[in-house]
Amino acid sequence: MGERMGSLRRTNMCGHLGMQDVGKEIVLMGWVQRERNLGGLLFIDLRDTTGISQIVFDDTVPTEVMAKAETVRSEYVVAVKGMVRERQSKNLNIPTGEVEVLASEIKILDEAETPPIYIKDDDNVSESMRLKYRYLDLRKPFMQDNLKLRAKVSKVVRDFFYENSFVEVETPMLTKPTPEGARDYLVPSRVNPGLFYALPQSPQLLKQLLMVSGMDRYYQITKCFRDEDLRANRQPEFTQIDVEMSFVDVEDVLSMNEKLVQKLFKEIKGIDIQLPIKRMPYKEAMSRYGVDKPDLRFGLELVDLSDNVRGCGFKVFSDTVENGGVVKGINIKGGEVFTRKDISALEEHVKTYKAKGLAWIKITEEGITSPIAKFFSEDELNSIISLCQGEKGDLLVFVADSESVTHDSLGNLRNEVAKRMGLIREDHYEILWITEFPLFEYDDEEDRYVAKHHPFTHPVEEDIDMLETNPDKVRAKAYDLVINGDEMGGGSIRINNSKLQSKMFKALGFSEEEANDKFGFLLEAFKYGTPPHGGIAFGLDRLIMTFSNSSNIRDVIAFPKTQSATCLMTNAPTNVPTKQLEEVHIKVEVENE
Ligand code: AMO
Ligand code: AMP
Repeated sequence: MGERMGSLRRTNMCGHLGMQDVGKEIVLMGWVQRERNLGGLLFIDLRDTTGISQIVFDDTVPTEVMAKAETVRSEYVVAVKGMVRERQSKNLNIPTGEVEVLASEIKILDEAETPPIYIKDDDNVSESMRLKYRYLDLRKPFMQDNLKLRAKVSKVVRDFFYENSFVEVETPMLTKPTPEGARDYLVPSRVNPGLFYALPQSPQLLKQLLMVSGMDRYYQITKCFRDEDLRANRQPEFTQIDVEMSFVDVEDVLSMNEKLVQKLFKEIKGIDIQLPIKRMPYKEAMSRYGVDKPDLRFGLELVDLSDNVRGCGFKVFSDTVENGGVVKGINIKGGEVFTRKDISALEEHVKTYKAKGLAWIKITEEGITSPIAKFFSEDELNSIISLCQGEKGDLLVFVADSESVTHDSLGNLRNEVAKRMGLIREDHYEILWITEFPLFEYDDEEDRYVAKHHPFTHPVEEDIDMLETNPDKVRAKAYDLVINGDEMGGGSIRINNSKLQSKMFKALGFSEEEANDKFGFLLEAFKYGTPPHGGIAFGLDRLIMTFSNSSNIRDVIAFPKTQSATCLMTNAPTNVPTKQLEEVHIKVEVENE
């Protein structure tokens, strides 16, 4: 059993000791990172949340103190009293490396079994072990740093909104489904048999109701829940910085929120961001980069060859254009270093995005190598090369397909090529707003238009006439914030007029009944005087990933879920006793072990 602290109290933190403390008698408390016994001389590296200090036991300590120090193992929790002194051989690799503590007393506050994972940043144990023993994983300095960064970002966000007269309002977790496009997590009601709450996919409808209430400016740092396929930057429960403002149009929301982005970069990274942040209409982003979240840290822009290859000798190209598709290419500057094998790998990459192939032309010292050159006349070939601004040393790659497949495949190939060629600067941030998203997108499965953002998004005024006639041409007053190719946030100006809202529902194929059933409370509220309003939500987890250079969202969340939405530490989700199910009127038909 561990000893008691008694009257001993911590006076200093391990990571803060320095020359300024030399000569002071201090008490440190923490975990044993490592112990080295050189016989008569014993070293302990003691760790707390601030860092590590070296403790020395030598022949100046009583034998019983030395004997106790000798029993200490990794991850024991100890208290040490001693005198700070300058080290003879300094270790300038760690912040406290100029000093050490000559111990006079040690208390073992708790013993520890050998931990199943090493407590060090570069421990390369499997992620499932890290998640199972999360409380040990969180002892690692980089994980603690990520959580501290997260707390600091939240503080900067709160300060910013407070200073700008936004009111933080909490909205319920037990609520009605919110239309953000994912499946809901449902919670059965015990006192209302057969009825369910949904956990919020976002506070969307409630923040709009707060605008109806006259709250004027709202924000909240809040959990959202979405039952969707998980990826490296998606969790089933994640955190949004959610914002809504009254009496605003697009530019007002962007200019307020980019000030927050500026403040975050200044206070978190020490980087000055020039305002205004670049705005790029969706259409331009798609045409130049193939995706609506382009990474602008490198070029590799898409070149449209469709008009140029109409009627050319290469059937794949000419037929595609003939049938309403497009042909686009990328000039990979210096791409002659790609071997045939590399190019095959690029072709496999575009095929995962449904492209049928990747045609290419390599311009070398000796001339042109290309599996498709033979299909073109010399003039046709030259005009393709000149349109792509191809020069010696370049590799030109092409996809011919529907516009969406061509954009998707080349847009993603762009990122892959940049990665392979080392064009991505990790310490550099390219930030932009994507604006004027389409209001609708066609859902092939449901065979109808669905809202691209959500059904409350306001169309661009001059496009309203096309709601019924030409829905796919209608632009929305919707925007995303993109940093280094990742979507960090998104929002829109909302419809605040019930006639327009009805038109919108009609375009989406909702009957009046359906609309009333789902959102009746909102539609009713809009009858009583609704200010023009709009807002945005940032993904807090993704911002922390960006600021900490993490490639995995789980590294910025204390207790995250796995790819299959489970918690390996608590084993959630689990079976529950039949009695508990009966109370909530649920019968389970699946047999689980
Ligand atoms: P949206 O659905 O675009 O908008 O979400 C806003 C931001 O939240 C983050 N995000 C996620 N982060 C981690 N895991 C997830 N599963 C996940 N899903 C979304 C993204 C995204 O940009 N109510 C609207 C906002 C508005 O219109 O004001 C909304 O939720 O960074
Ligand atoms: P093929 O004549 O089908 O063997 O194709 C010749 C070259 O064109 C190969 O390099 C294919 O990868 C490429 N290719 C085939 N279909 C397409 C397409 N839809 N878009 C771009 N390249 C293609």
